[in-house]
Amino acid sequence: MHSKTSTRSHRLPLQRKLDHNTHPLIWLLAIICTIIAIAVVIAGIVVFIGYLVIHPRVPVISVTNAHLDLLRNDYAGLMETQVTIVVRAQNGNAKAHATFAGIRFNLTFDGQDIAMLVANPFDVPKNSSRDLNYVVQSSSIPLTPDQVEEINQAWKQNEIAFDLKGDARTQWRVGPMGSVKFFCHLNCRLRFHPLNGTYIPSRCTSKSK
Ligand SMILES: *[C@@H]1O[C@H](CO)[C@@H](O)[C@H](O)[C@H]1NC(C)=O
Ligand SMILES: *[C@@H]1O[C@H](CO)[C@@H](O)[C@H](O)[C@H]1NC(C)=O
Ligand SMILES: *[C@@H]1O[C@H](CO)[C@@H](O)[C@H](O)[C@H]1NC(C)=O
Repeated sequence: MHSKTSTRSHRLPLQRKLDHNTHPLIWLLAIICTIIAIAVVIAGIVVFIGYLVIHPRVPVISVTNAHLDLLRNDYAGLMETQVTIVVRAQNGNAKAHATFAGIRFNLTFDGQDIAMLVANPFDVPKNSSRDLNYVVQSSSIPLTPDQVEEINQAWKQNEIAFDLKGDARTQWRVGPMGSVKFFCHLNCRLRFHPLNGTYIPSRCTSKSK
């Protein structure tokens, strides 16, 4: 009997003590969870800003110069042309080599295929670029009456447009472990003065995915 009351009186203060200790623990846990949540949000923001800063430096492909060397169309509706196009593959990354592969661009006039520009895979060292010089020669391109009319109009206005459209795959080699891959998509309108062949510069840079 005596011992029973003794245990009970012992248990009660102990239980009260535990309750007192549990509350700060939960608070501590809540604080830690909050800190972790804030850290995750901050890390996310840092990654996002880092992405925004790095993004313009992803490998890009652009047309830096061009020239219309020849443009001729006859009464049978056949076109002959030669176009020089300088395509620049640029690796703005100061820490990794970039590999460009699967380059395939179609040059067209008003939907009519003129030529396909391709390149073997190549490397571009850190923070540098490489120019690909294409001299596209094409003859006996059959034109529809509408396209002939388009060319006559181009001569009159001294302005002709070709479309350059296509894709390339690029990747950074990051250490021995892996790589970061990108997909460059180019879709440009190249405009020239047919009377003297001058290229009318415009922005022609790939969009990455
Ligand atoms: C990258 O190249 C540009 C010019 O080619 C140069 O001004 C810049 O300092 C280079 N950056 C690095 C990190 O090497
Ligand atoms: C380029 O032309 C080829 C052959 O005409 C066609 O198969 C391909 O889909 C074209 N690519 C683009 C991006 O238009
Ligand atoms: C070519 O012709 C255009 C339009 O007439 C002119 O603006 C341009 O300066 C000429 N270019 C050269 C190299 O003569």
